[in-house]
Amino acid sequence: MELFHLLVVVCLSLPSCLADGDDEFANYTITKRILPKHIAVGVATAAYQIEGAWNLDGKGEQVWDTFIHDNPSRVSDHTNGDVASDSYHFYKQDVAAMKEVGVNYYRFSIAWSRILPDGTLKKINQAGIDYYVNLFEELESKGIQAMVTLHHWDIPTALEKQGGWQNPKVVDWFVDYARLCYEKFGKYVQSWVTINEPKQICHAGYGLGVFAPGVVSPGVGEYLCARHVLLAHAKAWHVFDKEFRSKLKSRNTIVIDSDWYEPATHSKADAIAAEIKRQFVYGMYAHPIVYGNWPKIMIDNIAKYSKAQGFKQSRLPAFSQEEIELIKGTYDFLAVNHYTTYMVSALEDPNHVGGVSWDEDSGVNSYQKSTWKTAAIDWFKIVPWGFGKLLRWLKHTYGDKEIVITENGVSDTTGTLRDQHRIDYLQSYMSHMVDAIYDGVNVTSYTVWSIIDNFEWNQGFNAKLGMYYINMSDPEKRRIAKDSSKYLAKVIKTRCLIESGCE
Ligand code: NOJ
Repeated sequence: MELFHLLVVVCLSLPSCLADGDDEFANYTITKRILPKHIAVGVATAAYQIEGAWNLDGKGEQVWDTFIHDNPSRVSDHTNGDVASDSYHFYKQDVAAMKEVGVNYYRFSIAWSRILPDGTLKKINQAGIDYYVNLFEELESKGIQAMVTLHHWDIPTALEKQGGWQNPKVVDWFVDYARLCYEKFGKYVQSWVTINEPKQICHAGYGLGVFAPGVVSPGVGEYLCARHVLLAHAKAWHVFDKEFRSKLKSRNTIVIDSDWYEPATHSKADAIAAEIKRQFVYGMYAHPIVYGNWPKIMIDNIAKYSKAQGFKQSRLPAFSQEEIELIKGTYDFLAVNHYTTYMVSALEDPNHVGGVSWDEDSGVNSYQKSTWKTAAIDWFKIVPWGFGKLLRWLKHTYGDKEIVITENGVSDTTGTLRDQHRIDYLQSYMSHMVDAIYDGVNVTSYTVWSIIDNFEWNQGFNAKLGMYYINMSDPEKRRIAKDSSKYLAKVIKTRCLIESGCE
């Protein structure tokens, strides 16, 4: 049986894959109370969202600098990341906060243009290298491990001027940059992430154009980007594997974000539609790295729609056999960022041919229930059970792989120190994760986004996701503990997810 159909059949036979969108499930439900001892707990940030110092000490410009400076209204509160949480100057406060919470590791990203101002090896910026070495040493002195993301959406503007992620040369540009990072920082790093959330880079950045660099090329540019992201990741992973793995004793993977996609009804058509959507979202990047090519449903759908739309060939660029072999197996563990859930239904007319876009290529409808609780960002509905289902699906779809949760967390607009809603969110999401672990899903680490309030892309400082509040007008940018940081500290110490009753 061909893989996709096998997945649908398996999924139809599993209670966890079936429609479960009833409103009462959308509350902060607690299913398990104890976080197993083997689960490492970390916190995450990304360079542009926290560092500031956008043009200091030789840093080059990157696409988010350019995207927002060119048109400040691209961010809802017209702010930018020029200063942000100013971690460039206050990183020691970040590490002190992490120490206070007692986390095992810190996931953060390196700004490509801080160490290579024009993105290439033409000039290495020593001040940038020094900044990260100082941060690594501070972490080491506090016993906190480092999980490093090489690319969190900030491709240098000099490279974007040559086409950025749409130019095939980006593969080698990225590999040069990755090798330099392995060389300079390798001894400090326990886990490497090549690229964060390729879906956002490609779909939001080169499809819809709502993220930097703002290229509007749905259904075409976004696929070219995805192809190059996968090749860049794969080559950088192989460089790590061949040249660095044995001496560095660290691990390497790509972080893929995925919401959970729940069938809208118990009908077979909706179950298939939901599975198609999952393949278009997580599968688009995970299928190539696990099995070596795009998911078959993507290849088929996009070829079919491209033809009907008058394209001479499929808008989804094919991988050669050599490329398939190159990409296959380039992960040491599956890494997933997860925040929310959608319902999915089949189209009424299965022969409908929509417009040219990744969204329409899936050929299904997806939506969120208005009754679900919403965090500060409109897409951000709080649906803890979706997390458990996603984890079970990952195991059924990709096999019994180690899974690291590289991001999970919730936003608000006020930055209140009494952030009970964040405690409720973390508690219920972790609880559903533990439930999946009891069902045999091999989750080993859980990362909260984020340790500090920071610059939330299009939402600017309107959406706050930190466990430490920062008044962005305070020149000293003091990190002030919210209740959620104390909650997480207690969980790490006692392993109990609830106030009391774990005994
Ligand atoms: C995922 C992204 O990796 C991160 O940069 C962002 O802040 C969070 N989601 C929250 O939206």
